[in-house]
Amino acid sequence: MRLIIREDPKAVAYYTANYVRQRINEFKPTRKRPFVLGLPTGSTPVEVYWHLVDFFKRGEVSFRNVITFSMDEYVGLPRSHPESYCSFMYRHLYDHIDLRPENIHMLDGNADDLAAECQRYEDKIKEVGGIELFLGGIGPDGHIAFNEPGSSLESVTRVKTLAYETVLANARFFGGDVNKVPKLALTVGVGTVRAAREVLLIITGAHKAVALAKCIEEGVNHMWTVSVIQLHPSAMVVCDEDATLELHVKTVRYFKSIEQVQEQLIGRQNISLKGSISRLSGYDPGQTYRVAVQQSTGDVASELDTGEESDDDNVYDDDEYPEEEEEEEEEGDVQKMAVSSSADMLASSPSEINGASLNGSLAPAATAGNPF
Ligand code: GLP
Repeated sequence: MRLIIREDPKAVAYYTANYVRQRINEFKPTRKRPFVLGLPTGSTPVEVYWHLVDFFKRGEVSFRNVITFSMDEYVGLPRSHPESYCSFMYRHLYDHIDLRPENIHMLDGNADDLAAECQRYEDKIKEVGGIELFLGGIGPDGHIAFNEPGSSLESVTRVKTLAYETVLANARFFGGDVNKVPKLALTVGVGTVRAAREVLLIITGAHKAVALAKCIEEGVNHMWTVSVIQLHPSAMVVCDEDATLELHVKTVRYFKSIEQVQEQLIGRQNISLKGSISRLSGYDPGQTYRVAVQQSTGDVASELDTGEESDDDNVYDDDEYPEEEEEEEEEGDVQKMAVSSSADMLASSPSEINGASLNGSLAPAATAGNPF
């Protein structure tokens, strides 16, 4: 498992969105071989979606051959309700990108037969060849999707009763009134997430620090369902410094040093996007280094001594906000999109994005349109 630690939620969001962009582009999806993406709701991924929309508007990624599956949905809430997860996904992502409407998959929390609806979802995931990358957030109680404490680690899509803690946590979206929060949801199972070929979790904030510690420092446990990612062959957690507050110092240093050694000594050219070391071009085992991981990751790069002069003082920043070469796309697979002025701002200074631009600058582009 990889643990990527970034300074704050903004850096986490950019890292994650950039990773998704690169994964899709590297995959080179076509209509016959689409990229299947599982997506979460919650406040944590909102800024990730903002960046994905921005990348789309800059022509840096297309979703035309991407198929999406949302993780969960409330039961009994009309799909047109502003707090339904269906509305959420259209508002923050689907209304702004070039996804084909038929490639959008969501659970229907108003289906007459909820069990059949869940089975339909599992069948659909299988029919499209399984999920390539499942993005997820977590609740403070360590749930993934709506797999509350005690969920079977083999569970699949089903109806779930929400834990009181989750109802309380989500009351903020319903005017702070717990009585307005639906108490049932449809959710993909822990097993459904595990079955994805890759899982990427986004965890930010001190209120999730205990869950992160349970997830990566203790054993796999159904009371912290997200801990199941320890069993996944290709899992990554991207978290901010606050979320690491309950981790052992040694754990934080370990993961930071792994990333630094790979980046600085083994070399980015030798590391695949998913983190494996694919070759050793230019690698010199005799290089000396000292790892100073007590500071935030961004500072560490400058403290590494690779034994040679670097022509780039800020290696790490380049990696965070890379200027990529566009790959040749297969004919007909990718539409070129207009570049927005907000995108220009983003390119020059991702860290300057503020709440106002996040909330105010998204004009619908091409779009699926919430049909509900
Ligand atoms: C809900 C969703 C989860 C999500 C969680 C965290 O419970 N069902 O999928 O991960 O909220 O939300 P937030 O990102 O707002 O903390």
